[in-house]
Amino acid sequence: MFDSNIAALVLAAGKGTRMHSPRPKVLQELLGEPMLHYVYEALEPLFGKSVRTVVGHGRDEVAARFPNWRDGFIVQERQLGTGHALMESMDELDRMGCESVFVVNGDTPLIGGAPLAGFLQSMSRDMQADVAFMTITLKDPGAFGRVIRKEGHVQAIVEAKDYSIAEHGPATGEVNAGIYLLRLAAVRELIGELTNENKSGEYYITDLVDLGVKRGRVVMGYNCGADPNLMGVNSPKELVQAEFSLRKKIVSQWLDKGVIIHAPESATIGPDVVLEPGAELYGPFELYGKTHVANGAVVQSNTWIKDSRIAAGAVVRAFSHLEQAEVGEDCVVGPYARLRPGAVLAEQAKVGNFCEVKKASIGKGSKVSHLTYLGDAVIGAGVNVGAGTITCNYDGRNKFQTTIKDGAFIGSNSALVAPVTVGENALVGAGSVITKDVPDGNLAVARGRQANIARKRGDS
Ligand code: UD1
Ligand code: CA
Repeated sequence: MFDSNIAALVLAAGKGTRMHSPRPKVLQELLGEPMLHYVYEALEPLFGKSVRTVVGHGRDEVAARFPNWRDGFIVQERQLGTGHALMESMDELDRMGCESVFVVNGDTPLIGGAPLAGFLQSMSRDMQADVAFMTITLKDPGAFGRVIRKEGHVQAIVEAKDYSIAEHGPATGEVNAGIYLLRLAAVRELIGELTNENKSGEYYITDLVDLGVKRGRVVMGYNCGADPNLMGVNSPKELVQAEFSLRKKIVSQWLDKGVIIHAPESATIGPDVVLEPGAELYGPFELYGKTHVANGAVVQSNTWIKDSRIAAGAVVRAFSHLEQAEVGEDCVVGPYARLRPGAVLAEQAKVGNFCEVKKASIGKGSKVSHLTYLGDAVIGAGVNVGAGTITCNYDGRNKFQTTIKDGAFIGSNSALVAPVTVGENALVGAGSVITKDVPDGNLAVARGRQANIARKRGDS
């Protein structure tokens, strides 16, 4: 842990107007995880649970997505600016009894790299700064707050809207990253002086810089060069740019670790996915959540996989869609298979094209090869489920279970009306509608008998 004398404060109350989305901005996703997920991942190793979050717009949604962090939420009822967000947090920060607060904009998802560690280390070494913040240098300063220096010393941050060349001189390209380390004693002294007399009519946290300088406080801007990871995300374009750079970084890290990724430029791998060296994947594919792919497993192209485990030797063939599924060793899934939550395949099982499996376990070596729906089912080992088999698990109100025991054979185009059990080594004739249990070793045929009737002459 970095320093128990420092609390962290995430500013996440804003609406994110420029995203044009009903979703609160900090819940916008990169590689399947909300921006705030990345911010917390970066802060937790440094500050443990001493992380507070200013929420406002869409706060119930934010709380629902981050139940582990909601105890540290501070509500900013009206979003009157980043300086106001800090004002609203002062009581809680005082209560925590910390010396300093590390403040970060919640819309800066990629902060968790070396520059942040460098900033904190350098600040903890000197610890003399009252107001310190990170800066980046951009060719085009865009909508970022411009850093004004005189003989190298920071004087102020001037927001883009309030900036004029006549008043402030030509921009240098150095801008505020929205990441601050503030000594609370200084903040207490300065914060009452913040006003909203600017083009936006908001209280700016950035005005602490100019105020600090005027009051003789030590103010420092820590420049991190052109690091694109420190750019805030305000628009869809900036969101996908940040996602693009993160995606490239993650794919390249897995390649370095010995994962074989064909067409890596089209690979998408979420931040919490785990791939073992020797796993082989063919782009394009998307892996999200807590997906795990073992050594020797193969994932073919155009697959979408979330929160699933693919064991050694298994092959997920092209165009398959898996969510919360477990694929055992040496299984074959797809092409065009859909494994929904609770699909569990034991070793050497096979689920082929146009099959859907939901909340169902499939035993060792069993084959479900074509055009089948298995829901709420327990399938034993060595079972063959013929093409077009359906477990009728839902009566419009409740779900019921189907059990198919070891070695059973289900003929094509059969409907198994749950609750129902097909016994060991039993055989269901093709086209049957099975409504009663089939005893072990029996043949069940439940369909209209075929009648062959001679045609009269002249029938066409
Ligand atoms: C801010 C900085 C700017 C800097 C940029 C870096 C100010 C005034 N400007 O501008 O100097 O270059 O970040 O990315 O701070 N928020 C609240 N409550 C509010 C308003 C905002 O919690 O009342 C949160 C937002 O949810 C967001 C963060 O604060 O996560 C920053 O707000 P935003 O409006 O995006 O500021 P920028 O215009 O990007
Ligand atoms: Ca922003």
